Amino acid sequence: MIDKLNAIANRMVAPGKGILAADESTASIAKRLESIKVVSTEESRRDYREMLFGAKEAMQSYISGVILFDETLRQKARNGTPLVDLIKAAGAVPGIKLDTGAKPLALSLGETVTEGLDGLAGRVAEYAKLGAEFAKWRAVIDIGKGIPTHNAIHANAHALARYAAICQAGGIVPMVEPEVLMDGDHDIDACAAASEWALKEQFQELFYAGVQLEGIILKPNMVISGKKCAKQASREEVAEKTLKVLKRCVPAAVPGIAFLSGGQSGEDATAHLHLMNAAGPLPWKLTFSYGRALQSDALKAWGGKMENVAAGQKAFAHRARMNALAASGKWAQSLEKAA
Ligand code: 13P
Repeated sequence: MIDKLNAIANRMVAPGKGILAADESTASIAKRLESIKVVSTEESRRDYREMLFGAKEAMQSYISGVILFDETLRQKARNGTPLVDLIKAAGAVPGIKLDTGAKPLALSLGETVTEGLDGLAGRVAEYAKLGAEFAKWRAVIDIGKGIPTHNAIHANAHALARYAAICQAGGIVPMVEPEVLMDGDHDIDACAAASEWALKEQFQELFYAGVQLEGIILKPNMVISGKKCAKQASREEVAEKTLKVLKRCVPAAVPGIAFLSGGQSGEDATAHLHLMNAAGPLPWKLTFSYGRALQSDALKAWGGKMENVAAGQKAFAHRARMNALAASGKWAQSLEKAA
């Protein structure tokens, strides 16, 4: 079993490719569509995702995997082809979001714990039948006055480890996503400290749960200044401090690390990934698993209109290509301007 899981994980972090996170929940995708004045319906959500997955150049050349929400995994394109088949036809690995969201952690100072473990083995079996070869579970760690606490870090790491074990037992690769948020006014060193703590705890819990590291993908945040922090760290500092924390915490047995973008601009997320890969060699593959940073330009260019599908796909292809280059340490700012 571990050989099969390791082979899937290696396809997910294939050289010069990365993952499209398109697993926004119904509530989150509604907000994205609202931003371009499109009402969120089953059909508009389908049209948007069909535009992305049908982008041949982007999907075939730069995308190794796509994370889906339950609805999308069951949806068909306008011509009746299951959307998951569009992804497979492009040579990318389909994945599924398995958590049911971050919920208030009882008796805490506003911290959360991610839920979704009950009945999970049955859901994994069903999703595997529907074509999912990997999964994702996102835990959220917030930085603020008196937080994160060990209670929140531990509860989330434990749930992620149980989820990861259930996925591996069911034959699919778990993406393990302990996200330290960049929403606060904390500085980059506070993010480094919280990220290191969360990752140390995470790998300890994965060990206790018997998870085989050769069959997981880590999906972490970058070490970065809080959005509201007056002092914003440079791109070089983000790359340096992120690598430092990852090298301290992530065993070389892990095949790959695929970052979330977390609210960074498209270009920042690309530049940070590029700088880290350019500083290699590294013990693991380092690539992207971006949602917003990969989709924002495409969403705007598409605007919910059939006549703009090609424009949306072109914007998606550009961002995907820039990130694919960054995954090889071959991106340059000048390539952005040229486009
Ligand atoms: P962002 O890149 O927009 O943070 O989304 C990635 C993701 O999958 C978050 O769980």
